[in-house]
Amino acid sequence: MWMDKGDIPFARPFIGPEEEEAVLRVLRSGWLTTGLEVLAFEAEFTRFLEGSGGRLPGLQSLAVNSATSGLHLALEACGIRTGDLVLVPAYTFVSTAEVVRYLHAEVVFVDTAPGTFHIDPQALEATLVRLCRGEGAYPQRHGPGSFGPRGTPKAVIPVHYGGLPCDMDAIMAIARRYGLRVIEDAAHAFPSQLSNGSWAGTIGDLGVFSFYATKTLTTGEGGMVVSRDPEIAGRIALMRSHGIDRSVWHRYTDTKASWYYEVVAAGYKYNMPDLLAALGRAQLARAMELLAMRRKIAAAYDTAFHDGLPVSLPPTGPGDARHLYPLRLNLERLSITRDKVIEKIQAARVGVSVHFIPLHIMPYYRDRYSLIEADFPESMRSFQQVISLPLWPGMQYAQIDRVITVVKTIAQEYSRS
Ligand SMILES: Cc1ncc(COP(=O)(O)O)c(C=O)c1O
Repeated sequence: MWMDKGDIPFARPFIGPEEEEAVLRVLRSGWLTTGLEVLAFEAEFTRFLEGSGGRLPGLQSLAVNSATSGLHLALEACGIRTGDLVLVPAYTFVSTAEVVRYLHAEVVFVDTAPGTFHIDPQALEATLVRLCRGEGAYPQRHGPGSFGPRGTPKAVIPVHYGGLPCDMDAIMAIARRYGLRVIEDAAHAFPSQLSNGSWAGTIGDLGVFSFYATKTLTTGEGGMVVSRDPEIAGRIALMRSHGIDRSVWHRYTDTKASWYYEVVAAGYKYNMPDLLAALGRAQLARAMELLAMRRKIAAAYDTAFHDGLPVSLPPTGPGDARHLYPLRLNLERLSITRDKVIEKIQAARVGVSVHFIPLHIMPYYRDRYSLIEADFPESMRSFQQVISLPLWPGMQYAQIDRVITVVKTIAQEYSRS
């Protein structure tokens, strides 16, 4: 989209000479697709996560062409198949759920905890209790009995929304009790730290990061899957590249021919090219610098919107990667709708977005599982109240000030109090 010089985009990647040089290096090397840059990016990513906050050794990082591909591979490696149930927050991007359907498993939505944008551990457990009793996933709505998918729950995908880590202690304890695999959707969460110092994405069986254009570390499109389970990591390495096993070369031939391979599974084409890995390495090298910039912007917003306005600040904590700034509008104290607020912010040439439109109201999921808006009231409330403000490293003070002034002016003009 074309932008005027005075416009403040919703997101903008932080690309400097280091990123440009990295891409040029690969362009000039004669090797553009998966190769040594990807290997180096994976090794550096692992080193980052196992560095100061890392707890347990043995983490493997596997680069892929998107977090969506990574989530798909993660579920496949966990053995999810037709009819299995996978629990997913209703309040997330569609990738988190669609990968369940790729494998012909069923999505079971769980609401967010009040006042947060995270899967509610209590609601998660209540859903599991119903499923284990042989009831449908959702409580009674019309007449006797419950409704929604029935079957064996196999996995849960908590989403570290906006870069704030979920309550992983609670989620892991529930997952252990019910024998669930845990796949952390860490698309927003690089780098996010839990209170015990571990990095988000390294607690469950797998973690999946996104390097999409608007994310905290970007390669334009891309992702990384991390796991400590060598079997899972081996399966992902195989399946991201057509199910091709190159190790057979060592077993069946003593020549140096590198052309031989065997296909041992119907895999996918989900590899990351070297061009993007080089970009990722340059971004990774400045990940903490980018984090500090985002934190400064978010802190400026926190101070500006702290009190006196009909808005609520996003929940945060010391390990928050501050990928998003989801401001809640207290609509009962405003004489304007959320959509009109968005229109007014856009009219002031400031980018704004909504994270997320909950999945239970998306026609595909609504119709497949006979869901109504009221089934996930917290997700619905968040959706109706929230606006995401621009938050990207490189924002100038004048730009931050303008966002604050625009939002404050609208909130004050339409305030009922
Ligand atoms: C929560 C969440 N999960 C997964 C994804 C998918 O990421 P990608 O675009 O890298 O496939 C996104 C993308 O925005 C996301 O917000």
